[in-house]
Amino acid sequence: MTIFDRSKKGRRAYTLPEYDVPEVDLGIPEHLLREERPELPEVYEVDVVRHYADLEAKNYSVDRGFYPLGSCTMKYNPKLNEDMAALFRWLHPYQPIETIQGALQLMYELKEMLMEITGTDDMTLTPSAGAHGELTGMLIIRAYHLDKGDVKRTKVIVPDSAHGTNPASATMAGFKVIEIKSSDEGLVDLKELEKELDDTTAAIMLTNPNTLGYFERDIVKISEMAHEAGALLYYDGANLNAIIGRARPGDMGFDVVHLNLHKTFSTPHGMGGPGSGPIGVKNFLRDFLPVPVVRREKGDYYLDYNLPKSIGMVRSFYGNFGVLVKAYTYILTMGKDGLRMASDMAVLNANYLKKLIGEFYPVAYDKDEKRPCMHEFVADGTKLLKETGVKTLDVAKALLDRGFHAPTIYFPLIVHEALMIEPTETETKETLEAFANAMKEIVEEARRNPEKLKEAPVNTPVRRLDEATASRKPIVKWPKG
Ligand SMILES: Cc1ncc(COP(=O)(O)O)c(C=O)c1O
Repeated sequence: MTIFDRSKKGRRAYTLPEYDVPEVDLGIPEHLLREERPELPEVYEVDVVRHYADLEAKNYSVDRGFYPLGSCTMKYNPKLNEDMAALFRWLHPYQPIETIQGALQLMYELKEMLMEITGTDDMTLTPSAGAHGELTGMLIIRAYHLDKGDVKRTKVIVPDSAHGTNPASATMAGFKVIEIKSSDEGLVDLKELEKELDDTTAAIMLTNPNTLGYFERDIVKISEMAHEAGALLYYDGANLNAIIGRARPGDMGFDVVHLNLHKTFSTPHGMGGPGSGPIGVKNFLRDFLPVPVVRREKGDYYLDYNLPKSIGMVRSFYGNFGVLVKAYTYILTMGKDGLRMASDMAVLNANYLKKLIGEFYPVAYDKDEKRPCMHEFVADGTKLLKETGVKTLDVAKALLDRGFHAPTIYFPLIVHEALMIEPTETETKETLEAFANAMKEIVEEARRNPEKLKEAPVNTPVRRLDEATASRKPIVKWPKG
């Protein structure tokens, strides 16, 4: 039932007192004024509350159940973060600088902590998401090479396991993207890299652990190769949750590092926001950071716009400030040991689940049983498809019927029937076992009655949707009548 169905003429959620001040003519031109009243639903307050409660109940979230969406780090987000962010809700970005010292201090301290975590020397907090951070990082790399007069460097190397935003961001920044094949272990193939690396390479973009959930053990060698060729190394931080407190991208040789605060540092995300994708850089790149950068001088905080080589502004104001408060709160609540323990637990949970699921569902690039995965792994449904005709999409839909959010599917692209599973550190052993049991039940069903799985989901508010049409031709308003 929509809120329009609840509507009855004349009903009101609240009434305002009669005006006791004269009406003001706002000077809105006649032709812009409405001729008729907008057709809004007329409802009591309780109807409004029930409408939103109904919508909420139809939704699925981390607060409702297990959400193993690979690469997205859907961990539990402590509610304390929200309370702290709400403390700042009255701030306005146009306020005079002396009245927002606390907010600037928070940004400055967050930056310092993130620089320590990543092993970088300076940072911008402004980008609004991972992909936005990638574009910012690529623009910094471009500005750096151009500043040196090194105009030949027009290509960026990405592995074939990369997230789609990597080649997209490099392309948007004006580079040509060169894709290199992964090795049969699912890692960067050094020979392939060597073939492509030359004096036209601007950067190599990598995530570590990679999107198959494996640690790039040759990362120091890759960094040496990149730097010898005069290229820079870019870190896609979507998978930082696996290594916090154990390893730092800066120490591995990465020059530009993005973070997904909404993933690793616990902000509710999904369905488009809100996010934050800070970019950390090594010293030699600090002049190219976007403006403004938060700085401190003699105990006062200020916004530094005076960076002559800066790539400019990448968005309005100073970033998604609420997400910054949540990340700051999370880091302080967890402390150094807590953050390291979180990544340890994320890796432990992923390996436990991999072991359970691996008994009946192949894991991609898992020939060496001794090699642990990091915080996620990719199950491969190719064999199931061949034997039963059941696709990974059907498995994902069947999981919804069993009360779980589906893992990421069909990514990375090099695994054709990929189910990318990231349990995160905040799940219990019982939840992991329940999920593995649900997967097992689905595989058994696939062998018994594959047609039934093609009907899934049957227990959700909506069945299979035409996702392509929904995103290309979204209907975002109530269709009258
Ligand atoms: C490996 C990887 N890189 C980059 C991104 C882009 O991050 P965002 O969604 O915050 O733009 C994602 C997002 O899922 C990702 O998984």
